[in-house]
Amino acid sequence: MLVCALLAAGCSPQTKEHLLRVFFTGAGTTNRPPVTASAAVSTNAAVQPSVPTTPQVVSSHKAFTERNCTACHLTAMSQELRFSGSDLCLECHDKLIGNAKYVHAPVNDGRCDLCHQPHESTERFLLTRKAQDLCLDCHPLAQMVKLRGHATMGTAQCVSCHDPHRSEQKNLVKAQP
Ligand code: HEC
Ligand code: HEC
Ligand code: HEC
Ligand code: HEC
Ligand code: HEC
Repeated sequence: MLVCALLAAGCSPQTKEHLLRVFFTGAGTTNRPPVTASAAVSTNAAVQPSVPTTPQVVSSHKAFTERNCTACHLTAMSQELRFSGSDLCLECHDKLIGNAKYVHAPVNDGRCDLCHQPHESTERFLLTRKAQDLCLDCHPLAQMVKLRGHATMGTAQCVSCHDPHRSEQKNLVKAQP
């Protein structure tokens, strides 16, 4: 149904982008039509206006929750770090990359912080944003949909096929389970 919508002539680029985003992330966060009073009455809870809530911590780092601040900071009172960039993280996560054949560019650049929070996060795996949104920040959807390997991807998450850190296979394709 969405595919038909995508093919429809006369779509503005914004509409296309929005449809693609819905298509791939399952969440259209912008351009949502306003919920009218009659719609709210005629349907159930699904369309109730959302009440702003305090963001929920979904994941937290063990050393942080155990208040082992000096695992990363020079002293418990200091914001200064024991090591910079990914050297700090790889002290404990040394198996994450090992001597993998292919390493994702931002990981290779030591930029764990582009995707992860050090203390806690409102997303799984201490992520700074939802995984899919992170990927699309740097790999524009309009380019992604043109790739041969993506012809059958449907609404699958990027990380269902790609490892975000490293792989023994080209294009960071995950090993088959
Ligand atoms: C897993 C490593 C790690 C642990 C454990 C950790 N921190 Fe941090 N902390 C960091 C990193 C990385 C930064 C980011 C520094 C930056 O962006 O310049 C940071 C930043 C901070 C900052 C600066 C403000 C902010 O939030 O960005 C404070 C304050 C801080 N940490 C306090 C603590 C305290 C208190 C603890 C123990 C309860 C703790 N940290 C445990 C890694 C850690
Ligand atoms: C002092 C050791 C230590 C350091 C330093 C450290 N980690 Fe961790 N990290 C852990 C432990 C322990 C876990 C929990 C592993 C488990 O539960 O199996 C963890 C878990 C994680 C997770 C998974 C969280 C989840 O919800 O499943 C991420 C992501 C992570 N660390 C990223 C980082 C990053 C990024 C850095 C550098 C800023 C870092 N770690 C530095 C010890 C460390
Ligand atoms: C391009 C974004 C990105 C970068 C850069 C990145 N990560 Fe991750 N990381 C992810 C995503 C996405 C997941 C969740 C994967 C999933 O959902 O299966 C994850 C999961 C993890 C986990 C928990 C699951 C696992 O594979 O063990 C750890 C630990 C982790 N990252 C550590 C790190 C460290 C350490 C660095 C820097 C050396 C780093 N990450 C850099 C995106 C990134
Ligand atoms: C901060 C920017 C950034 C983020 C976030 C990011 N990438 Fe990348 N990625 C890059 C760069 C830079 C390259 C190097 C190739 C290029 O220039 O396109 C790359 C390359 C790749 C490649 C090709 C690897 C190869 O060996 O040729 C894949 C696959 C990939 N990324 C998947 C992902 C996925 C999946 C996510 C989300 C978990 C993600 N990327 C998030 C910057 C990013
Ligand atoms: C169904 C599995 C699958 C899914 C889901 C998937 N990919 Fe891929 N991806 C592949 C395969 C296979 C290749 C290698 C073949 C190719 O380049 O066409 C690839 C290649 C890539 C490349 C390398 C492109 C280049 O120019 O060489 C990047 C970057 C990439 N994918 C990012 C993503 C992002 C971002 C997402 C999520 C929006 C995603 N992939 C979802 C299977 C997948």
